[in-house]
Amino acid sequence: MNEILKASNLSKHFGGLMAIDDVSFSIYEGETLGLMGPNGAGKTTLVNLITGKYFTDTGSIQFMGKDITRMAPYKRCKLGISRTYQIPRPFPELTALSSVIVSALYGKDRSNQSLDDAGYEATHYLEFCGLFSKRNVLCKDLTLYELRGLELARALATTPKLIFVDEVMAGLNPAEATKAVRLLERAKEEFGVTILWIEHVMAALMKAANRVVVLHYGKKIAEGLPQEIANDPLVIECYLGSCHV
Ligand SMILES: Nc1ncnc2c1ncn2[C@@H]1O[C@H](COP(=O)(O)OP(=O)(O)O)[C@@H](O)[C@H]1O
Ligand SMILES: [Mg+2]
Repeated sequence: MNEILKASNLSKHFGGLMAIDDVSFSIYEGETLGLMGPNGAGKTTLVNLITGKYFTDTGSIQFMGKDITRMAPYKRCKLGISRTYQIPRPFPELTALSSVIVSALYGKDRSNQSLDDAGYEATHYLEFCGLFSKRNVLCKDLTLYELRGLELARALATTPKLIFVDEVMAGLNPAEATKAVRLLERAKEEFGVTILWIEHVMAALMKAANRVVVLHYGKKIAEGLPQEIANDPLVIECYLGSCHV
C-alpha cells in the first residue's frame, strides 16, 4: 500500500505540558486508521499539527511525498487534507448550503469555479450527508447530529484525499452514532478518501478501523491491528486508568 502521510518525531508542548511527545506514524492510501486514547491523550493536537493549526516543535510531516511541515493550513487543504471538528464549527449565520459552498469554492486548488457549479457540488454533498431538506436552514438552528453531518459535507466539498474525523460519535445517541459510522463508510466507498478516525470509545473504533494507533499522555504506546490493540496489556491498563507511561 502507498504511504499517503508520514509523520516523523512530532512533538508539541503547551507551556510545561508535552501534549505530543516524539510521535511517528504513517497513514496508507485507502485505509481507515483509528487514533485512540483517553481524554487529553493528544489526539486532537496531533490532528492540529498535521492540518497546520499548530506547527510541530520537532520532526517533519510528508503528505504524498511533499514536505508540509511548515505549510499554511489552507495550502494543506488545497493539497487534499481535510478535517471535521470534534466540536462542530459552523458559520452560525450562513445556511447549511452556503457553508458547504464556501468549502467547494475555497477548499481546493481550483480558482475558476463558478458560484453555480459550487452550489451544485455543495448540494450533492449535503444530500450525501442526509441534509438536503436542511439546505436553507441557518447553521445555528441545526441539531448536533445535523452539524456533524454538515462538518462531513464541508470536509468532502474540498475534495480531500485524506480526512481527519475527530470524535464523530461524541454526544450522539446510539442510533445516530450508527448512522454516522455508516456515513463515513459510504464516504470512503463513494469518494475514495483515506480516513484517520479519532475516537476515545474503544469498541466503536475496533469495528471501523483497519489499523489502530494508541496515544497516552502524548506518547504513542501501541500500533497494530484492532485485535492486537484490544489484547495489548499496556493499552488495557491505560484504559483502566492505572497506566503512567
Ligand atoms: N491550545 C492549547 N493550549 C494549552 N493546552 C492545550 C491546548 N490544546 C490542547 N491542550 C492540552 O493538551 C493535552 C492534549 O489535548 P487534546 O489533544 O485535546 O487531547 P484529546 O483530543 O486526546 O482529548 C490536554 O492536556 C489539553 O489540555
Ligand atoms: Mg480531542
